[in-house]
Amino acid sequence: MFVKDIEFTLKDGRKAVLRSPGDEDIQGVLDYLYVSSGETDFILRYPEECTKYTPEGEKALFDRMRTAENETMLVCLVDGKIAGNCDVRWSTMLKTRHRATVAIALLKEYWNLGIGTRMFEELIRIAEANKNITQMELDFIEGNTRARALYEKMGFRITGVKPNGIRLKDGTMLNEYMMVREVKR
Ligand SMILES: CC(C)(COP(=O)(O)OP(=O)(O)OC[C@H]1O[C@@H](n2cnc3c(N)ncnc32)[C@H](O)[C@@H]1OP(=O)(O)O)[C@@H](O)C(=O)NCCC(=O)NCCS
Repeated sequence: MFVKDIEFTLKDGRKAVLRSPGDEDIQGVLDYLYVSSGETDFILRYPEECTKYTPEGEKALFDRMRTAENETMLVCLVDGKIAGNCDVRWSTMLKTRHRATVAIALLKEYWNLGIGTRMFEELIRIAEANKNITQMELDFIEGNTRARALYEKMGFRITGVKPNGIRLKDGTMLNEYMMVREVKR
């Protein structure tokens, strides 16, 4: 699914753009994946695990995301720099095609500027445009108060917990929480 430029204004007055990624974004996305992985424990990868991401792999992913009917990715650019990305996807299987899964992450320098809110408005719009989808789902890691605040603001509620779903390198165990947002039509 292709999403063309959506311009909006950040809380600090700067302009930002949300859109489907293209070839010109490959290096920016690779940089963002690596840096963001070291800035928070609340995303699922460590920087050294980013070696699996390659320019060829990102190109193939972006191409797929632009054309697939059951998934899409958006990047946010601020002053031409990739600030983060988000995605929404859903199954095509009859028993589970009513469930859309979303994910989001931003570089730390862009937290708290309203990008997450604007991304979620768009992810919700995309999911609600598919008449099969009746609920949106996501997971967050224990302690991620900013993410939880955003998700609750956007209408998600906690529906379950995977105890010790995350184990950090230092051995710390953290719960993973599941959230659901029903689609109202
Ligand atoms: C979580 C994340 C995506 C949120 O995006 P964001 O652009 O910072 O979010 P927004 O600025 O749109 O909104 C954040 C909201 O949380 C509120 N908030 C921020 N910190 C908070 C805290 N510690 N406790 C409660 N609320 C908080 C803000 O006030 C804001 O609400 P408001 O718009 O009503 O004022 C972003 O911070 C991020 O990328 N974090 C690291 C990666 C991550 O955790 N990804 C999610 C994995 S599940």
